[in-house]
Amino acid sequence: MKANIVLLPGDGIGPEIVLQAQRVLEAVAARFGHEFEFSSHMIGGVAIDTCGDPLPQETIAACRNSDAILLGAVGGPKWDDPSAKTRPEAGLLKIRKELGLFANLRPIRLFDELLDASPLRREIIEGTDILFLRELTGGIYFGESGTDGNGQSESAYQSMVYSVSEVERIVRLAAKAAQGRDNRLTSVDKANVLEPSRLWRRVAARVMEEEFPDVKYDVVLVDAMAMHLINRPSDFDVVVTGNMFGDILTDEASMLPGSLGMLPSASLGSDGPGLYEPIHGSAPDIAGEGVANPLATILASAMLLRHSLGLEDEAKVIEVAVQSVLADGLRTHDIARGNASIGTEPMGSAVVERVSV
Ligand code: IPM
Ligand code: MG
Repeated sequence: MKANIVLLPGDGIGPEIVLQAQRVLEAVAARFGHEFEFSSHMIGGVAIDTCGDPLPQETIAACRNSDAILLGAVGGPKWDDPSAKTRPEAGLLKIRKELGLFANLRPIRLFDELLDASPLRREIIEGTDILFLRELTGGIYFGESGTDGNGQSESAYQSMVYSVSEVERIVRLAAKAAQGRDNRLTSVDKANVLEPSRLWRRVAARVMEEEFPDVKYDVVLVDAMAMHLINRPSDFDVVVTGNMFGDILTDEASMLPGSLGMLPSASLGSDGPGLYEPIHGSAPDIAGEGVANPLATILASAMLLRHSLGLEDEAKVIEVAVQSVLADGLRTHDIARGNASIGTEPMGSAVVERVSV
């Protein structure tokens, strides 16, 4: 197979971890006889510094013409000034919107080898395997916003809007994902307070009743969900929710496996290329030191092979290689719990070696 993969390394540790994932993808291509062509483009702070725009037109065009996109991370203290004209994060939001990537898949999966790296007790997290589907191109992230007035009476607003079709498409995708897993779906909202959540709940219930009567379906309020994730995470299978709730709950859930450094994500639309990235951010505090954990990005590249290129066997090879690296006791600093650790590049090489056999 021939595939054209766009790399968006971005800021902070982004370039270091994307490089390791690229090496792994090249090893997969060599082993299975595929031809992957890579091209690197700018997004985020580095793009602001170079051309004053966190998402240059050239990057959008390259993404549109690609088969899949692998992103590192955007942002950092250098671009944090609240009065700045633009921000690195705006580039990420814009690429999601431009490519219609309405579904963000965030699997929370435990590695047996890392059970003791979790801040929670083993008996609570054992058996946890959740797939979050976060709506990614609507809701409060994209609502009308602005400021009014001056001085003490200055105010700011941002509205949360969801339409029937936006809810339908993400709930359908989540229900289909549930059918391929344990056949259970939980929808999370704040319908006791928010109008868009009441619409969400109504539409989701109808879609489930009419189209997926076989899937076991329930609804949970977002505040209660925050609690259940800590208390009984192994009770959930697929969870579907809106943009902001999904942002918050997946950071919380990412702590279940012990490190943000292990979790990949996929952002998909109804057609066109998908965008794959680690859940974690740009970690400016360790950028350039060669100690970042590349495994989340490497696992994101496995999701890329699976969802955008339909290469399931190749995706499994990467996932098995990551598991084998962990079973052999190799750890980057974030998952070493004070024991010996290796750097970003040796960790990448360890995966490459196991993929290449
Ligand atoms: C995420 C991030 C982004 C978001 C930021 C960087 C804009 O937190 O992907 O979860 O809020 O969506
Ligand atoms: Mg987030």
